[in-house]
Amino acid sequence: MPTSIPTTIRALIATGDDRLVQVGEAQLPELAPDEALIGVEAFSLNRGEIALLANPRPNWRPGQDVAGRIVRSAADGSGPREGARVVAQASQGGWATQVAVRTESIAELPDNVDTVDAATLGVASVTSLRLLRAAPDIAGRRVLITGASGGVGHALTQLASARGALVTAVTSTPERGSRLIALGAQSVVTSLDDLEGGFDVVFESVGGATFVAALRAAAPNATVFYFGQASGESAVVDLLAALGTAPNARIVIFSYWIGAGPEGPDLATLVRLVSHGVLRPEVGVVDDWSNTSAVLKSLKDREVRGKAVLTVAAG
Ligand SMILES: NC(=O)c1ccc[n+]([C@@H]2O[C@H](COP(=O)([O-])OP(=O)(O)OC[C@H]3O[C@@H](n4cnc5c(N)ncnc54)[C@H](OP(=O)(O)O)[C@@H]3O)[C@@H](O)[C@H]2O)c1
Repeated sequence: MPTSIPTTIRALIATGDDRLVQVGEAQLPELAPDEALIGVEAFSLNRGEIALLANPRPNWRPGQDVAGRIVRSAADGSGPREGARVVAQASQGGWATQVAVRTESIAELPDNVDTVDAATLGVASVTSLRLLRAAPDIAGRRVLITGASGGVGHALTQLASARGALVTAVTSTPERGSRLIALGAQSVVTSLDDLEGGFDVVFESVGGATFVAALRAAAPNATVFYFGQASGESAVVDLLAALGTAPNARIVIFSYWIGAGPEGPDLATLVRLVSHGVLRPEVGVVDDWSNTSAVLKSLKDREVRGKAVLTVAAG
């Protein structure tokens, strides 16, 4: 007998004001044949969602990174069975008691991967994995990671270091830096003025002066990934100067989702890496989802190290 499922769910709804979200009621999503219904036990926040919440689209509900259990498996027979513990990346609506997700964007969890840790693995860790897939061979190469104490930065620092890269992490404080050293970074810089040159690969996601400094630090033939602008500031760069310092460098404007295929296989890889202790999710904040507004503010104000995770009581 299939589990009896109510027709409404509790969900975080965009308010369009300073609170950004509040708990409300929403219709249970209708499942497409290739979608499973997940009972959400934990979800994590992404900086990109703050921007979306500032100007919410009609009929959109926030939430991509979720972990929980399958409440109803997909009608087409794909994906995990009811009751399976899973991590998933929803297209939207994951900050809720239940969410519909295509089975190609779901991975099962082994017993030794905790639900809160799993909830961190969506956008930030999938982006990190895909950045590395798009990068040249980094084994033994000098790699610069800006915004390194954020969600992407912690995962990317670990995955790049595990591949043998000599990672320099840019972060705001020595305390955050020492954590990144413990996770594999070779060195830490807390002031852009201290950034030395010669980086073969640059992963930049802060924008403004940080992008300018990162490009200046690139070596000849370097690959410079621009994938975000956490500062909200655009960069104005002197490409003629870059011709002198980094001839034949290329700038890649990176998107983790365009042409990249479904997230399920990458989530499964990340789960394996967590299970084997190669990737250690950095959970800076865990709170009940009724406090999501306050935690979003902390994330916006750079108070969170790594990922912020919200737990959802059953219901
Ligand atoms: N293109 C893509 O496919 C893709 C995918 C995922 C994420 N992104 C983007 O990549 C960026 C990083 O994502 P994330 O999830 O890692 O974000 P996050 O967790 O908020 O981390 C961003 C980090 O940047 C640092 N930072 C430096 N200057 C900052 C400033 N002025 N304002 C805010 N943060 C500042 C902060 O660390 P300190 O305070 O220690 O400096 C912060 O921890 C975001 O812009 C996100 O939207 C893009």
